[in-house]
Amino acid sequence: MAKKIIAIDGPASSGKSTTAKLVAKKLNFFYLDTGAMYRAITLKALEESVDVNDEKKLEKLVKDSVISFKNENGIQKILLDGKDVSEKIRKPLVDYNVSLVSMHKKVRKVLVEKQKEIGRKHNLVAEGRDTTTVVFPHAFKVYLDADLKERAKRRFLELKDKGIQTSLEEQMKEIAQRDKLDSEREASPLCLAKDAMVVDTTHLTIEEQVNRVIELYEDTSRVS
Ligand code: DC
Repeated sequence: MAKKIIAIDGPASSGKSTTAKLVAKKLNFFYLDTGAMYRAITLKALEESVDVNDEKKLEKLVKDSVISFKNENGIQKILLDGKDVSEKIRKPLVDYNVSLVSMHKKVRKVLVEKQKEIGRKHNLVAEGRDTTTVVFPHAFKVYLDADLKERAKRRFLELKDKGIQTSLEEQMKEIAQRDKLDSEREASPLCLAKDAMVVDTTHLTIEEQVNRVIELYEDTSRVS
């Protein structure tokens, strides 16, 4: 039987990760963090001194890598060639280089195929840039949005929580810049799939947005 797939996209700090994780947990679906896969390959490139601008070498690197996920006490871990890299992939150096690695079409092609394969085995909630358009075009699609100021506030508070000093103005600038880069890039830019349900989260709590996504999904599944 075809697997059930919910794909979630949206701009930076719209609450994609938190929502996708919680929706997956509530529905007992697999949570597929596609960004983590791009991060894992970026980490490997950095560790093996592969130039992040060299598409051919990166393609070989990604083809030769095994990326998998495992659940440890309810927390999802990502494994790269069998090693847990869940923490390492969140380091600033990876943050800094991942958008360069994810720009390469050949890298994307291999990772998209790996993601589709996971989608053939599990009911899942997938999160990431091209999940609603390229990876799972037949999924139930949700586009989470929120106004710029609210997204900057969320990011500011998240960083403050981690002990990182910044300002709301700085975050507004940075997120506006990321929106621009994300929407204008050539390979799989951020865009609203035409049959996606838009959920504006500006005035919603996390719990409300999770419930809203599930409600929309269940309404649609009842109809189809
Ligand atoms: O969601 P994130 O910050 O972990 O994503 C890391 C990077 O990977 C970010 O630059 C966007 C990119 N990405 C992508 O190009 N395609 C995806 N499906 C997921 C993430």
